[in-house]
Amino acid sequence: MTPQIVRTIAELRKETAQWRAAGLAQAVVPTMGALHEGHLALVREGLSRAPRVTATIFVNPKQFAPHEDLGRYPRDEAGDVAKLGAAGAHLVFAPPPSQIYPPGFATTVSLAGPATVGLEDRSRPQFFAGVATIVAKLFIETGADFAMFGEKDYQQLKVVTRMARDLDIAIEVVGIPTIREPDGLAMSSRNAYLSAEERQRATAIYRTLREAAKKIGRGEPPKTVTEASAAALTAGGFRVDYVAVRNAETLAGPSQVGEPLRLLAAAWLGKTRLIDNIAV
Ligand code: PAF
Repeated sequence: MTPQIVRTIAELRKETAQWRAAGLAQAVVPTMGALHEGHLALVREGLSRAPRVTATIFVNPKQFAPHEDLGRYPRDEAGDVAKLGAAGAHLVFAPPPSQIYPPGFATTVSLAGPATVGLEDRSRPQFFAGVATIVAKLFIETGADFAMFGEKDYQQLKVVTRMARDLDIAIEVVGIPTIREPDGLAMSSRNAYLSAEERQRATAIYRTLREAAKKIGRGEPPKTVTEASAAALTAGGFRVDYVAVRNAETLAGPSQVGEPLRLLAAAWLGKTRLIDNIAV
């Protein structure tokens, strides 16, 4: 099936209003394109919850700092649309930046809670305001019933969940487990930046997280374990931004025995920043 492509908010609203009028629920899969199996898993999960799925493709300039990779972010709209069609998406919203941020655009969603816990926000201070602003707009523009997000961007999942709840947007944000390569590397559009040698070394992130989760599960102190994990990654050629154990819901530091925990890491290999996380 070839999905219909719409580029304006007016066209998007027209299509999705017809679904609503027919009583058909809709799931939205927000993406920046360069799609891989992880994105397609979100489409399939969306189809398991709603008879209509809209995927959005928009490389959102507001979530990139000036020194980040906006200019070289991988783009392949024709390839992405073919993959979305094969996965069963009905509609693709691929607007130009001027449609999303017309002249005079002046509003940004301001965040606290899981957006200000010293993880991604420490290394990328502008990131979540940019993400929350585009995601809020996409939720409102599509009027979707479900929104599908990968757990790979775990802090993003918690931020958009909190944002939708706090702004009373009537949408259920659904988190989907990370899809991994056979050697364990979390799928990411940015993996395309890795050299062959970096790609081999990149598997250490997931391996290190799994070993650390086992140790914490056995009762070893989280701080000792995460420091050792950071040291192991550094020895493996990474520049580590963080390895941290947090409450799985609030992302605050652990404070109670028996609370659900998540282990999260971000580290650079050469010019590529990789993130990953697992449950403890
Ligand atoms: O995870 C992403 O690809 C982006 O941050 C998102 C959610 C599509 C917003 O631009």
